[in-house]
Amino acid sequence: MSPTQPAAYSRLHIVLHWLIAALVVFQLIFGEAIGQLGRALRDGRTLSPLDTILGNAHIYGGVAILLLTVLRLGIRHRQGVPTPLPSSAWQEQAAKWTHVLFYALLLITPLTGLAAWFLDIHLAGEFHELMKPVFILLIVIHVGATLWHQVVLKDGILKRMM
Ligand code: HEM
Ligand code: HEM
Repeated sequence: MSPTQPAAYSRLHIVLHWLIAALVVFQLIFGEAIGQLGRALRDGRTLSPLDTILGNAHIYGGVAILLLTVLRLGIRHRQGVPTPLPSSAWQEQAAKWTHVLFYALLLITPLTGLAAWFLDIHLAGEFHELMKPVFILLIVIHVGATLWHQVVLKDGILKRMM
């Protein structure tokens, strides 16, 4: 934990939040392209240029998420984060653990993907695919909680990340 407690998220932290979020959504939507690419390479088939680009983009996008997350965790450690908005104890705990789980997934998912693709570790691939529903569930909870704060509690939570 940082010794300081800033009044707001830094500009860099905010940029990284939205960049990583956009990359994650891209990975989740087009994830199957890399499976197709792997099967095509194995069977000696040629894929359409678009499918080839999407398959390769999965690798670059995933590696970018890994590196940006390490950077973001470094910044978080150095700068600290603002105090959570006041809410009930269980909601604060839920937010804290959702964020911890997000960071864990942002590291584990690309690492298992890399192990499956480059080291051909089958179990890593199985585990990697399992991360998809977990990510989706967390995003639903995270966006739901943000909307609850924004629309019902009207505490301006979105402005903290803008
Ligand atoms: C889709 C992928 C997303 C991921 C992986 C993600 C991840 C995270 C993480 C890890 C934090 C905690 C930041 C920290 O304290 O270090 C956070 C905060 C936040 N996120 Fe997201 N997020 C995503 C999408 C979104 C979306 C779509 C919204 C808006 C609807 C959103 C709104 C926020 C807000 C407002 C905060 C600040 C919460 C606070 O001030 O306590 N996020 N996000
Ligand atoms: C946070 C980053 C990542 C996310 C969110 C993600 C997400 C996904 C998703 C949704 C799928 C499709 C699963 C399905 O068909 O049900 C997938 C498949 C796959 N991903 Fe990723 N991925 C990420 C990073 C990576 C990286 C860095 C690599 C390394 C090359 C990689 C390699 C693979 C492979 C090999 C498959 C195909 C598994 C198969 O069909 O056998 N992923 N990924």
